[in-house]
Amino acid sequence: MYTQAMDTMGKDAAGKAPVISAEDAERMARFDARIDAGEYIEPKDWMPAHYRKTLVRQISQHAHSEIVGMLPEGNWITRAPTLKRKAILLAKVQDEAGHGLYLYSAAETLGVSRDAMLDALHTGAAKYSSIFNYPTLSWADVGVIGWLVDGAAIMNQVPICRCSYAPYARAMIRVCREESFHQRQGFESLLTMMTDGTPAQRAMVQDAVDRWWWPSLMMFGPPDDQSPNSAQSMRWGIKRNSNDELRQKFVDAAVEQANVLGVALPDPALRWNAARGHHDFGAIDWSEFWRVVGGDGPCNRERLRARVQAWEDGAWVRDAALAYARRQDAAHEAAQAA
Ligand SMILES: [Fe+2]
Ligand SMILES: [Fe+2]
Repeated sequence: MYTQAMDTMGKDAAGKAPVISAEDAERMARFDARIDAGEYIEPKDWMPAHYRKTLVRQISQHAHSEIVGMLPEGNWITRAPTLKRKAILLAKVQDEAGHGLYLYSAAETLGVSRDAMLDALHTGAAKYSSIFNYPTLSWADVGVIGWLVDGAAIMNQVPICRCSYAPYARAMIRVCREESFHQRQGFESLLTMMTDGTPAQRAMVQDAVDRWWWPSLMMFGPPDDQSPNSAQSMRWGIKRNSNDELRQKFVDAAVEQANVLGVALPDPALRWNAARGHHDFGAIDWSEFWRVVGGDGPCNRERLRARVQAWEDGAWVRDAALAYARRQDAAHEAAQAA
């Protein structure tokens, strides 16, 4: 236990282990023991600085992904084909805003302010899921995002319901319930087009699947051997399954669902491997992933511009809410003084 404690303290620039007090070593050992026993960590509990920093990064990136993720689909609200589809899409996009709010609140319990997190998003210092830097070109994209993108999000997020940091785990339980509605509405919309649609509508679905399949596989992050933060996050119970494990699980489930829909997945190497009990699949173009993560995807600039614009347009609402709260406080104090 003591070696793990030393390890999690990290090393200084000279590569020497920092000198830690006996008290810190003791707290670290207690923290590690709690993690090993599967206990949840609450905001008031002692935690190593690196654990806190990792969670702030992960939860804020997750929050940013939720609200940036509203943009590609929001693009179709005014053009939804029927009233029913419009109502479903509106509800879904609103859910994503709610997910962002739960997650910003969970990150705030770690001592970071919402203004600081949003500033990091707006200046480009913080990342969000690269999938939202792709355009939504047709109505079928909305269905495919529900099926594949929300489907991949569920695979990623269900294990986080058991994350060692309790506020994150609690937020994810609620988020996952809503994500499963998102996945099903997308699948059902595609199934309608594939079974009752015209040849042109079926072709539109296939085209959307062709464009979203590979970026969806990238949502699980780089391969395990190139994922530098994974080992520590697994040890701390922030992460429960590896990127490659979750990606494989997603591929296996998607193959079955694609068969039901009657769409082809755009991968000639995709086939069942009886020895492994899983589907083999082709090589992912990681250079595309890193390019999009690095800011050079098809819609990176557009997405960031839209978020910054929304923040600036909302300034008067924030100012008005603050002015109102101050007036309420003053009235409350005056009433108490009287
Ligand atoms: Fe979400
Ligand atoms: Fe969703």
